[in-house]
Amino acid sequence: MKITVIYHSHSGKTRTIAEKIHHQLGGDLIEVVPNQQYSTLSAVTKGCYRALTGTADSVTPDSIALGDTDLVVFACPVWAGKPTPVMNGALKVLSGESGKRAFLIVTCNDAKSGGQAIALLKSRVSDVGMVPAGEGVLDKHTVISDQAITPLIEKIRLTGGKS
Ligand SMILES: Cc1cc2nc3c(=O)[nH]c(=O)nc-3n(C[C@H](O)[C@H](O)[C@H](O)COP(=O)(O)O)c2cc1C
Repeated sequence: MKITVIYHSHSGKTRTIAEKIHHQLGGDLIEVVPNQQYSTLSAVTKGCYRALTGTADSVTPDSIALGDTDLVVFACPVWAGKPTPVMNGALKVLSGESGKRAFLIVTCNDAKSGGQAIALLKSRVSDVGMVPAGEGVLDKHTVISDQAITPLIEKIRLTGGKS
């Protein structure tokens, strides 16, 4: 079973999670970055506006082929209660995604906000023909806690059928 982790991280927390998952489960690790980088200020102004309006950023890499992947883990921060516009952009550059299972992770300050963003991310991966197969919300307390991350990785392992 091959797992591909696709993530966006603005300030590094989601990157740490994505790297831990990749370290434990192998497969591919793909960081998606916006072609127009956000500053601290523009993330709050432009970034939140784009998140609220469901806009997809133009991103690098400009294509992600999922041919031999069995489970795709998508991970991103929550901006304004939504998935980031960079993650929206990542969903636009996939190929071979139809029918593949997706495990969704958001990192956030507040778990309630994360729950709202996960629901949206779930509907967006469904819209591109993928099958949501699991999810995890890491808030400001759990994002740095191995006690939360270890069971999440185990959940992904089981979802991916990894022994
Ligand atoms: C522009 C911006 C907007 C944010 N909006 C929210 C929000 O609506 N709800 C929330 O719980 N956290 C929010 N956060 C906090 C981040 O989601 C959280 O710190 C996340 O773990 C950061 O991940 P990263 O370090 O990978 O970028 C926001 C952070 C930024 C920079």
